[in-house]
Formats: sequence, structure tokens, C-alpha cells
Amino acid sequence: MLRRVMLLLVMVSAIQVQAADEERAVAIVNSVCKVCHGADGESSSAIYPRLAGQSAVYISRQLEDFKSGRRKGTMNDIAANLEPDEMVALGKYCSSKPTKSHRALDPDFTAVGKYIYHNGNQWSGVAACASCHGEEGAGTDELPRIAGQHMRYLVSQLREFNERERTDENAIMSSIATKLTPMEIEAVARYLSGI
Ligand code: HEC
Ligand code: HEC
Repeated sequence: MLRRVMLLLVMVSAIQVQAADEERAVAIVNSVCKVCHGADGESSSAIYPRLAGQSAVYISRQLEDFKSGRRKGTMNDIAANLEPDEMVALGKYCSSKPTKSHRALDPDFTAVGKYIYHNGNQWSGVAACASCHGEEGAGTDELPRIAGQHMRYLVSQLREFNERERTDENAIMSSIATKLTPMEIEAVARYLSGI
């Protein structure tokens, strides 16, 4: 009996912590993040990356990297005000939101991107993106979701992977991005935004 009561208490307090974390995340999203990333991480404009459905671990790690300056950009000052547990709560909250994809335009061009995504380019030594990001581009704890992301953001990240300072993992994407031609970058981003 006592054990059951204890178990129940542990469960109730876990639920309360979860609810408090979510409330905190909602409050931060509404007061800070919403202007750019939208209330549900759907992003208010194509300039800002979508966070809905993004890996929770990836989000909190990026926020840490923005705070420490390992990744540079608009987010540095914003992340500076976040505590580690808030980053985790924000990651979980955004990750739980539904994803969307863009309407695929220009099927011939999209097909070039689809080919590169699934096969890479053996003539220039580009690895298949799917080998890490998954067949559906859905991401994992370690890897960002790239499916349904705004094309403009994807292109900007692929172009900037060399210049921008991120974590160690950046080395992988830098070596891939340097081998992509401008056309390949546009095509793969077009394909990804539509899945
Ligand atoms: C003024 C607009 C603005 C606000 C406000 C803002 N962001 Fe951002 N965010 C950006 C931009 C722009 C980027 C793209 C980063 C870059 O390339 O420098 C970004 C990138 C990110 C990323 C990385 C996404 C990825 O796919 O790598 C995360 C995570 C993120 N923001 C979370 C947040 C959270 C959480 C908040 C609220 C605490 C927030 N942002 C507030 C503009 C904003
Ligand atoms: C060997 C594994 C690997 C392969 C292959 C790979 N990626 Fe990545 N990619 C990563 C990792 C790891 C990250 C996260 C980097 C970080 O956390 O800073 C990433 C990040 C990205 C991002 C940034 C997403 C964001 O939200 O900011 C884009 C865009 C991307 N990859 C596109 C591609 C494309 C397109 C290809 C194929 C041409 C590809 N990747 C192939 C490992 C890979």
C-alpha cells in the first residue's frame, strides 16, 4: 500500500514538473520567440527556421551553442538570457508541435535535389544526405530535422556552413557543403522544403 502511494506521489510530482516546464516554455515562446519563430514554431517568415517538430535535443544544444558563442548569429543575445533547464523545456515544447511542408514547385528541379539527397554525388564525392539525416529528413537526437524547413534557411545554412562557427559536428557539414555546387544547394533545399 505504502509503496503504491509513494509511486503515485512520484508520478504526480513528475507530471507537475512537466506541466511547470511546459508553462515556462509557453511563457518564453510567447514573450520572446514568437515574433520570429511563431507561437507553434511554424516561423513567422521564411527568414527564420521552423522549430516545430525539430529534435528537442538538437534545439537545446543549439541554444547552448548560441549562448556560449560556439554558433554565431542573431540568436546569441537571445540565448544569453536562457538557463539550461529553460533550453531543455523549449526544445521539448517546440519538438512536440506539428510539422508542415511546402508545396513542391518545379518537379524537374526538385528531382535533382531528391537524387542528391538519397544518392549524393559520386563524381564530386558528396555523401548521400539521407545516410545521416534519414530517408525522410526527420532527424534524430543528434541530427536536425531538415524536412519541411524553409528553403531560404536551408540554402543559407548550406552556404554558410564554412564560415559560421558551430560545434565540432560542423566539420562534417562543412566538408559536404564545400563540395556542393550552387545549383545542387538550391535543388536539395527545394526538395527538402517540400517533404
Ligand atoms: C529576432 C528574431 C528571433 C527571435 C526573437 C528568436 N530567434 Fe531563434 N533564430 C533566429 C534566426 C535568424 C535564426 C537562424 C540562425 C542563424 O543562422 O544565425 C534562429 C535560429 C534558432 C535556432 C536554431 C535552429 C536550427 O535549425 O538550427 C533555434 C533552436 C532557435 N532559433 C530558437 C529560438 C528560441 C527558443 C527563441 C526564444 C527564446 C528564439 N529562437 C528567438 C531568429 C530569432
Ligand atoms: C555524415 C553525416 C551527415 C551527412 C552525410 C549530411 N549531414 Fe547535414 N548535418 C549533419 C550534422 C551532424 C548536422 C548538425 C550540425 C550541428 O549540430 O551543428 C547537420 C546539419 C545540417 C543542416 C543544418 C540544419 C539546421 O537546422 O540548421 C542542414 C541544412 C544540413 N545538415 C543539410 C544536409 C544536406 C543537404 C546533406 C546532403 C548534401 C547533408 N546535410 C548531409 C550531418 C550530416
